[in-house]
Amino acid sequence: MWLTSSSIGRKLIMSITGACLVLFVTFHVLMNSVAILWPAAYNTVCAFLGANWYALIACAGLALLFVIHILYALVLTMQNRNARGADRYAVTSTPKSVEWSSKNMLVLGIVVVAFMVVHFIQFWYKMQCQEILGHHFYETETGLLLPVTAGTAFIQLAFQEWWTLVVYLVGFAALWLHMNHGFWSMFQSAGWNNTTWLPRLKKISCAWTTIVIGLFAVQAVWFAYQAHNGEYFKNTELKNQYIEQVGKVFQERFNAIQQSAKSQYDQEAMKQMQDLRQEFMAVMEKYNQLGKEEEKAAAVEETPATPEAPAQNDTTVVNQQPANN
Ligand code: HEM
Repeated sequence: MWLTSSSIGRKLIMSITGACLVLFVTFHVLMNSVAILWPAAYNTVCAFLGANWYALIACAGLALLFVIHILYALVLTMQNRNARGADRYAVTSTPKSVEWSSKNMLVLGIVVVAFMVVHFIQFWYKMQCQEILGHHFYETETGLLLPVTAGTAFIQLAFQEWWTLVVYLVGFAALWLHMNHGFWSMFQSAGWNNTTWLPRLKKISCAWTTIVIGLFAVQAVWFAYQAHNGEYFKNTELKNQYIEQVGKVFQERFNAIQQSAKSQYDQEAMKQMQDLRQEFMAVMEKYNQLGKEEEKAAAVEETPATPEAPAQNDTTVVNQQPANN
């Protein structure tokens, strides 16, 4: 097939997959903005895009795009190297028009992939992957149960580590160079390379890439600042949102035991409900402690401190009996 057998066809595939990936990162940066403007709404969007069928189809499509883009990048690089043979080591006077990034697309791509591995471990693995595995919570090192759809809680976990910001900024720099070059060269591969349009397309690519990557960088700095202050754990609205989601899951488990109980006096069911209640209270206790350290530190800094309203951790899970069936 021409698309896969010819060099131009392969470049076209790189361009099409690249264009889709550019659209994805543009959507992603806009979605991240929600986490800055309305953090609670961001969690609602995360829940909407969780492991629902439409999100899973979109993710599978996205993964396929990444795989094709990376595989073809490797094939094209090998082809170019073979075509150049030993000459690639010879000192050549490279034309000025060949930019540094165009010669280093593979290296830049590898840095972007390395960033994405870290990113996936910090977010995707703890969120959507857990949901796919049928888990409702991700348990932190301190034993806190976080609902897997609470995006801001995972922003807190990721960006409270100082090195996260460094890794992300390096990743963004590589992504800027990679995307900027890839963006206009895709028009070139598509044959849109006349002398009037190519300089214009280069400017458009540069502007688009700079806005998207610039926004990512500003967001990462903001998240790191907020996480450093423990904002995503001590903010009452967010905390109540996490607690509500945890409460819902416990309530469902509770209802399931209630419904499977043989009678109102089913000892086994009563024991299970008692254990569940205790487990729930232990989880709530952890939530009550959440963000307290940062609050104490803030109170010392800006006295007099205003006491914050206690988190609403009351749910109907407590004080229920098995159904009388
Ligand atoms: C400040 C920077 C960023 C933050 C805070 C962030 C945050 C997130 C979050 C919360 C998720 C959702 C995980 C889930 O629901 O499973 C996610 C997924 C993802 N992110 Fe990012 N992201 C950032 C930058 C980037 C960049 C620069 C790229 C691409 C180069 C990227 C690629 C992805 C991909 C491919 C996914 C998986 C999408 C899916 O589940 O369908 N992210 N990110």
